[in-house]
Amino acid sequence: MSAKVSIIGAGMTGATTAHWLAERELADIVLVDIAEGMPQGKALDLQEAMPVIGKDVEIIGSNSFEATQNSDIIVITAGLPRKPGMSRDDLLTANAKIVGSATTESLKYSPDAIFIVLTNPLDTMAYLAMKLGHLPRERIIGQAGILDSARMRAFVAMETGVSVENINCYVLGGHGDEMVPLTRTSNIAGVPLRDYLPPAKLEEIVNRTRKGGGEIVNLLKTGSAFYAPSAAIAQMVEAILKDKHLIVPCAAFMNGEYGLHDMFFGAPVQLGRKGLERIIEYKLDEEETVALHKSAAAVKDTTKALEHLVKF
Ligand code: 2OP
Repeated sequence: MSAKVSIIGAGMTGATTAHWLAERELADIVLVDIAEGMPQGKALDLQEAMPVIGKDVEIIGSNSFEATQNSDIIVITAGLPRKPGMSRDDLLTANAKIVGSATTESLKYSPDAIFIVLTNPLDTMAYLAMKLGHLPRERIIGQAGILDSARMRAFVAMETGVSVENINCYVLGGHGDEMVPLTRTSNIAGVPLRDYLPPAKLEEIVNRTRKGGGEIVNLLKTGSAFYAPSAAIAQMVEAILKDKHLIVPCAAFMNGEYGLHDMFFGAPVQLGRKGLERIIEYKLDEEETVALHKSAAAVKDTTKALEHLVKF
């Protein structure tokens, strides 16, 4: 296989990302984690599944970044997950150290790789990786928007009984409780969601989407969601490696888009072999603009808190 994807953090999200990627036969995979034997064990187990599903993929587990040499894509999932009652921002101090060293270590072995960051608080961790790694914005993208939009799509499907394939939802903004599910743009086979569902039901779905990550944390009690987040990463990896020019919501570095500067924020982006190709700007109405700026202010606060912890 010619492409190589390394996943830093072989916990539930990292290992499940490897699983989705191997199933799609997209690239050889390296799983890296500090826990001795764990990435090796998970990689070997997954490797032994390949004959069953008929995929020729090499999967290696390692405790060393050396194994990631010449990766096309580095996926950073390493970090602590939330516990019930915690916000994503509560993870800032612990995860800044982990993401910082994952970025600089990975860059030593793969100076040209594209980085996908999933660790929370997502928008701020992507900012940290970009600044510490001196990465151009094309090569560093955060994942949250596909996940948040998928949650909204799933809730709409549960409510309507329509196939998830017909349901198009768009969630913008930071990956926090202030995220902005767009009910005006979201649609079922072209019919605006607002025309399909009564306002009270729609509001319920918007609120459940905003708190979707917390809902899973409260159920699991010992970790956060991993199936949907890792499926979202796999979609990004596929779009990049296959140069699909796919437009999906992700966290990208804002250079004036949506009136925002010097921060990561969720917006529809086009992904291809070079990474981020462009950021799509929706024409937002007044209500959406207010909500978006509220979400941006929350992300800015966390990013400011980071600047007290790390000197760039
Ligand atoms: C979530 O929303 C883990 O932030 C991730 O589930």
